[in-house]
Amino acid sequence: MNSQQNKITQLFNIQYPIIQAGMIWHSGWKLASAVSNCGGLGLIGAGSMYPDILRENIQKCKQATDKPFGVNVPMLYPNLDEVIQIILEEGVKIVFTSAGNPKTYTETLQKEGLKVAHVVSSTKFAMKCEEAGVDAVVAEGFEAGGHNGRDETTTFCLIPNVRKHISKPLIAAGGIALGSQMKAAMILGADGVQIGSRFAATVEASAHENWKNKITELQEGDTHLTLKELAPVRMVKNKFFNELEEIYNVGRNKESLIASLGRARAKKGMFEGDMEEGELEIGQVSALIDEVLPVETVFQNLLKEFNEINTPSL
Ligand SMILES: Cc1cc2nc3c(=O)[nH]c(=O)nc-3n(C[C@H](O)[C@H](O)[C@H](O)COP(=O)(O)O)c2cc1C
Repeated sequence: MNSQQNKITQLFNIQYPIIQAGMIWHSGWKLASAVSNCGGLGLIGAGSMYPDILRENIQKCKQATDKPFGVNVPMLYPNLDEVIQIILEEGVKIVFTSAGNPKTYTETLQKEGLKVAHVVSSTKFAMKCEEAGVDAVVAEGFEAGGHNGRDETTTFCLIPNVRKHISKPLIAAGGIALGSQMKAAMILGADGVQIGSRFAATVEASAHENWKNKITELQEGDTHLTLKELAPVRMVKNKFFNELEEIYNVGRNKESLIASLGRARAKKGMFEGDMEEGELEIGQVSALIDEVLPVETVFQNLLKEFNEINTPSL
């Protein structure tokens, strides 16, 4: 890919339309600044950070890059108003909201001069984002790691449908780790891509080494989308997953139990490295990830693969 401008590079003032997804327990200032320094858009994941830790990460990111970066705010978590206040005080210019209503913060942030993107997993919600006036929509398919939609719509089906129904800049997410996948997403109608799992297995990600190495060993079929009636999440089928399935099937105290298990278990797995008792969020594309790499190498590979593909004509 040559660094030609398109809707996404212009919107965020970046070189390539490649966004590193905000990911709990992975995307601190090191990952976000490394991606921004390569010409993409790095996002700090606020979802696993107490407010003071978020502030520290933003300040360190500002030191580590003079390129644009943003903050991902999943609206599932507490302290949201405080998080937004910190983002404004620290002069962050870009926010990606997810797991909530795009109307809640879009106008407030835009009035302060920020660009706002919102993550959805269906065409219906993509249209709601457009109504809410967001600057860009991230449409995330069923393959994606982490929290997801209930409808099991794959990226391949979601992107063309969203493209048909909205005119805002569109970012495809879910199942993108190779240049060929990025090119496919853009042929389907996306203006850029948001990549999670591939950046989770990088040297700069803040996750535990046990987990990063585990990602490189995962095979097709090793992840599953569970908790669909509560907060659907794609994770590895380990001991914790099996326990969760049992509790969930019995239906006893499920909401409070799963909520409390889920949050602590994500830290235990991905940050503390317990591969059996912890919750391990990752996408289907993990089957294509064989190595923990520096961000710069991930970028070089993506761009090389992207440029080498000649799209066939019939
Ligand atoms: C470990 C992990 C943690 C995630 N945490 C978040 C999060 O905090 N906020 C969010 O909006 N999405 C989160 N996601 C979803 C990503 O932002 C992204 O949309 C998704 O990973 C894209 O699909 P891929 O994993 O196939 O690249 C997470 C994904 C992973 C793999």
